[in-house]
Amino acid sequence: MEHQVSHRLPRVLIFPLPAQGPVNSMLKLAELLALQGLHVTFLNTQFTHNRLLLHADIQARFATYPGFLFKTISDGLPDDHPRSGDTVMEVIRSINTESKSVFRHMLVSDELGSENSPSVTCIIVDGIFGGFATDIANELHIPIIHFRTLGACCIWVNLCIPKVIEGRELPIRGEEDMDRLIRNVPGTERFLRCRDLPSFCRARNLTDPDLQVFVQQTLHSPRAQAIILNTFEDLEGPIISHIRTLCPNIYSIGPLHMHLKLRLANNEASSQSSNNLFEVDRSCIAWLDAQPPKSIIYISFGSFTVMTRNQLIEFWYGLVNSNARFLWVARLDLVAGDGEEAQIPLELLEESRERGFIVGWAPQEEVLAHPAVGGFLTHSGWNSTLESIVAGVPMICWPYFADQQVNSRFVSEVWKIGIDIKDVCDRKIVEKMLNDLMVERKEEFSKAADEISRLARQSVNEGGSSYYNLDRLIEDIRLTSS
Ligand code: UDX
Repeated sequence: MEHQVSHRLPRVLIFPLPAQGPVNSMLKLAELLALQGLHVTFLNTQFTHNRLLLHADIQARFATYPGFLFKTISDGLPDDHPRSGDTVMEVIRSINTESKSVFRHMLVSDELGSENSPSVTCIIVDGIFGGFATDIANELHIPIIHFRTLGACCIWVNLCIPKVIEGRELPIRGEEDMDRLIRNVPGTERFLRCRDLPSFCRARNLTDPDLQVFVQQTLHSPRAQAIILNTFEDLEGPIISHIRTLCPNIYSIGPLHMHLKLRLANNEASSQSSNNLFEVDRSCIAWLDAQPPKSIIYISFGSFTVMTRNQLIEFWYGLVNSNARFLWVARLDLVAGDGEEAQIPLELLEESRERGFIVGWAPQEEVLAHPAVGGFLTHSGWNSTLESIVAGVPMICWPYFADQQVNSRFVSEVWKIGIDIKDVCDRKIVEKMLNDLMVERKEEFSKAADEISRLARQSVNEGGSSYYNLDRLIEDIRLTSS
């Protein structure tokens, strides 16, 4: 049976990249659409769905929305694949090659809908799956929107990579070439260096499969009806204008976590919106309550970063020597290696016991909003960056991979709300940067961070650009679905 556009209720299919950051922001979008009465199907890989199922509160929350469905799709990998840390690109490549026919079948057989809204009338897919999903959507005449869960800054760089290659600015010719400025990304010529390009651009071979996926999938975005960005005009307006020259219809509706919080404020049914795939340890909140205002540096490297033991030790010495008070998120798989090798050395732990607190996974939005937190040592994942911006917390950026290299450069050079220490992991530098952020330059950074935080909040309030764009998105989904 071929797909026919339903004349019943519209149903939006949302298909995220199966990782903490993207699932978090896609679920927030899903909830915003559901709040406006749209029927939504959230399509997870089986692996991600099993992790979400562990959190009864998430299921209970979404069960309150009429027509909301969770469905699953295979990512094509064997059951014993770790699907974590460094293997995320394998997951992405596998879905792009293995899930195409299943995805098509799910759409044509109407197994993604319910009685009132049996057919998918609009697809919102993570742009990293933009190639195959757009082919299928076009074949079945279903409108498709790409949601890029990265910052506009990285999307724009990705869109320019073919020009950068054409201009012979890639490949990078070794470490001594890393500080060379890039000329072929309009709007960034003054500050974007080779070092700040997405990490995959460091490949010596331009046919590197990770570089190909990251860039090629972005090049499919102009084929979509529209693009959704989790950002706001006052933060990335000039860059978004560049993207509009290739993709005219952009809905910038972020910061989504703040946007959802505001729109939920009048909704008794749903009072909170945590979308964690990890078990959250809230014990740190009581500890934070007992700390002086803006005295704590919060340290978290997101859900994928894997560091070496040597890097861990350098960070710890920097931290201990700086005398900073800290809250550290030490994920079980943060450090490469097993057993003792992956642990924080006991003598360093002892030395910092009175000044620090360690958890496996924190309630990050709540932590950043806590009055005791004055700085964030981060991997510069896009969600962490936005959450810090909303909370007005200045950052020290130590990017790990993908878009994070771009985000951290914008934090330090464009928005001036932090320090970028990419590619450096030395105890003396860590100590000095902590001292700069938390003491010496505290006022300068706090002032800039407070101003951007104000603009972020303004954008999602009634009359703000993101508020307007979300209403426009919902209206357009309704119109194209009828
Ligand atoms: C991945 C990529 O690493 C990132 O570069 C890209 O921008 C999005 O996909 P991730 O490593 O998960 O993201 O980082 P990030 O985007 O920052 O998202 C992490 C999320 O986990 C945030 O929403 C943060 O609030 C949450 N988190 C993190 C917690 O709730 N508790 C923690 O202890 C750590």
